[in-house]
Amino acid sequence: MPAIIVVGAQWGDEGKGRVVDDLARQAHIVARYNGGDNAGHTVVAQGHTLRLHLVPSGILHPHVTCLIGAGVVVNLAQLAAELDELGALGIDVGPERVRLAAAAHVILPTHRALDGAREAARGKTAIGTTRRGIGPVYADKAARVGLRAGQMADPESFGELVAALVQAHNRLLQEHYGLDPLPVGEIVAESVALARRLRPYLADGSELVARALAAGQTVLCEGAQGTLLDLDHGTYPYVTSSSTVAGGALTGLGFGPREVARVIGVAKAYTTRVGAGPFPTELTDETGDRIRQVGGEYGTTTGRPRRCGWLDLPILRYAVQINGLTELALTKLDVLTGIHPLKVAVAYERGGKQTERFPGEWGAEELIRWQVVYEELPGWDEDIRSARRWEDLPEATRAYVARIEQAIGVPISLIGVGPEREETVRR
Ligand code: GDP
Ligand code: IMO
Ligand code: MG
Repeated sequence: MPAIIVVGAQWGDEGKGRVVDDLARQAHIVARYNGGDNAGHTVVAQGHTLRLHLVPSGILHPHVTCLIGAGVVVNLAQLAAELDELGALGIDVGPERVRLAAAAHVILPTHRALDGAREAARGKTAIGTTRRGIGPVYADKAARVGLRAGQMADPESFGELVAALVQAHNRLLQEHYGLDPLPVGEIVAESVALARRLRPYLADGSELVARALAAGQTVLCEGAQGTLLDLDHGTYPYVTSSSTVAGGALTGLGFGPREVARVIGVAKAYTTRVGAGPFPTELTDETGDRIRQVGGEYGTTTGRPRRCGWLDLPILRYAVQINGLTELALTKLDVLTGIHPLKVAVAYERGGKQTERFPGEWGAEELIRWQVVYEELPGWDEDIRSARRWEDLPEATRAYVARIEQAIGVPISLIGVGPEREETVRR
């Protein structure tokens, strides 16, 4: 069996964790392909609410091997803490179950300091990053000065490499940003200790994937962030610094496009965004507050309130196109219960010209020049959290889902009607 890619279709936090947990039942490997601990993926199951930042969302399934792929950037202390937390819950997080690709890049405390310094320097145009060092570590990777997880195999020489990079970062912090340097000795000691601890987890990530695929096993590829946060195809510069889209799974894990059988986009039944940047369907009124309250829309990683707004169909069509989606998983439909009427963006307009295409390609400055064209749809008042079959959903709910399906041209195969594993309608 093949590779299945799970990718965020909006600005992140679509419910990828819960969808991956659901699909992991049939998978052999669950592999994260991009991002770092800027991600926060929630899995609610077996009486636990897991908030995962680095460990793939298949971890609750004992038969699954979890791979942190080459395209991921790893905060070593965060990974160790997450393994400890999961271990304390009785979950097996031994090195035979969790694998860390040798080619994954390592985030240092100075990457985080630089992230904060760059944000402060941007002033009013700050991106609103998670300050996890994501931009600086991917910049070092592209500049070919980064550290890779595989270099932890020799903890002592890893310590020397850490020292050199921290010193280079410190010069930037001091000379360019006028900030205090971070303590080199402390960071080196901590890094060497973490290298000793995490060394057993190192693996040849692409080899692991290749062997599984050759053996007919299913590799579930877990994306972080979402299509509109993609470095190339998102609302630049208000994006993250990795390939969040389906193509990122191929580069981030190291396999070819012929292996891909399904590409599953995950979208909320409305839209949210954390951080700065344009958000055409944003609601700054009571409806937006209501969605935030009912949907618990506060960041998994930073606790920041998420900006909330109506569903945007041009965005979903864009996600279908960019990722080659074969289907969509629609989450949080229950959150819309009791809102009348529901609005969805169906097109964009500028100077009397309408387009059904999401006009985000020219960047954030261009996007804000467009007006949103809405369509109203009837809401529903019935509690839908106990629905398990399509027929259990009220007619207005089905009409809402059918309208999305008609607009995007791919089937909606899974509907979330609550955060718990069972609160799912399959089609
Ligand atoms: P991810 O980053 O894409 O994995 O998404 P997050 O975990 O950051 O945010 C999704 C939030 O919505 C989590 O708190 C989930 O528990 C919750 N959630 C997922 N699906 C549903 C759903 O269908 N209904 C409700 N009410 N909550 C959901
Ligand atoms: P998951 O995987 C939502 C946002 C940040 C900021 C921008 C850049 O849980 O969906 P970064 O720290 O990556 O440099 O920040 O991207 N962002 C996310 N928003 N969900 C995420 O991850 C995000 N990861 C980063 O808020 O606007
Ligand atoms: Mg999240």
